[in-house]
Amino acid sequence: MSKWLGLMSGTSMDGIDAVLVSFPDNRIQIHHTHSIAYPEDIRQRLTQISQNQGTPDELGELDHIVGSLFAEAASQAIEKAGISSNDISAIGSHGQTIRHQPRGNTPFSLQIGDPNLIAEKTGVTTVADFRRRDMSAGGQGAPLVPAFHKAFFGSETEDRCILNLGGIANISWLPAGGNQPVTGFDTGPANALMDAWCQYRTGRPYDEDGRWAAEGMVHQELLGDMLSDGYFMRPPPKSTGKEKFNLEWVKTLAHRHSEVSDADVQRTLLELTIVSIARQLPHAPNMTIFACGGGTRNTFLMRELKRACSPLMMTSTADLGLDPQWVEPVAFGWLAKQTLEKRPGNLPEVTGASGERILGAVYFA
Ligand SMILES: Nc1ncnc2c1ncn2[C@@H]1O[C@H](COP(=O)(O)OP(=O)(O)O)[C@@H](O)[C@H]1O
Ligand SMILES: [Mg+2]
Repeated sequence: MSKWLGLMSGTSMDGIDAVLVSFPDNRIQIHHTHSIAYPEDIRQRLTQISQNQGTPDELGELDHIVGSLFAEAASQAIEKAGISSNDISAIGSHGQTIRHQPRGNTPFSLQIGDPNLIAEKTGVTTVADFRRRDMSAGGQGAPLVPAFHKAFFGSETEDRCILNLGGIANISWLPAGGNQPVTGFDTGPANALMDAWCQYRTGRPYDEDGRWAAEGMVHQELLGDMLSDGYFMRPPPKSTGKEKFNLEWVKTLAHRHSEVSDADVQRTLLELTIVSIARQLPHAPNMTIFACGGGTRNTFLMRELKRACSPLMMTSTADLGLDPQWVEPVAFGWLAKQTLEKRPGNLPEVTGASGERILGAVYFA
């Protein structure tokens, strides 16, 4: 049975998740999982360059460093799984997004982490650069996971919504029976702004279990100001990233409300995540929401989100048989499979592309 290796690092820039997976009878079977954290100095350099601060040399070096780290994550996963690289059909590597600018006359999306290094060091055929073909066909290049959600999480009888809480939040709406089109888009920030503010004010990369936010109060005027950002009102297709929702965005708004305490800003950012998601959910009274991504580990966020989405049912993808931490890496393993089988990986109704496309570039072993 063919095995695939998915490699993912999202906008949170916390580290690389690697998963060894197969798809027997259209089911997901995980064989091994492995994560490595970015060294702190690399995380800082990635943050800088993603804010447009850096030279072409710096970008080139980071492309090499990140590629080496992705290769290392893959090699460790293969070794720990105790299998040979010959047993793996391909690696699907998302890379590390540095900038994502899907709008305007010169749209682009830039992921780094040289795939040549991954193929060379692991001896496994590597598929990467998944987003740009969709963009060339007029799409946003994102989100790409809805095609995977549709393939594995759709139900004949239940309306389902998959909610990914990474740095950015994205939803996939899977109507029961599959006879209505799937929709999916980025709703805005999930953890990105909370992480940025927490790092800036406390030096910690994220607010563990939302404990700091839980000490604060929602400041309604600040929340209203945040929610007036045009992104939340814009209809799909749409996608976003840290070039928009970043520390500067928070600082600009917090500055207008300088009376608000740091903890209250944190609590208000958590509320922004919740309200922006809740407002943009499809209107389907019987749907169940399945959450995934690192945000599901923020217990306070999950409790408040459940409250805001009530009476809708909310649980995690664990109830669909897939641990919430591994949904995105598995999706990129599956996208590599789609590419090598010459099948499309995008959903044009989600990304806005003019049609289905085979995604990615292949770096043969
Ligand atoms: N125990 C926790 N408490 C609060 N937040 C957490 C916890 N564990 C993970 N997170 C959040 O999840 C994020 C990582 O989620 P992930 O799904 O990897 O996002 P991305 O796809 O953007 O890399 C962290 O940056 C942090 O905000
Ligand atoms: Mg991550």
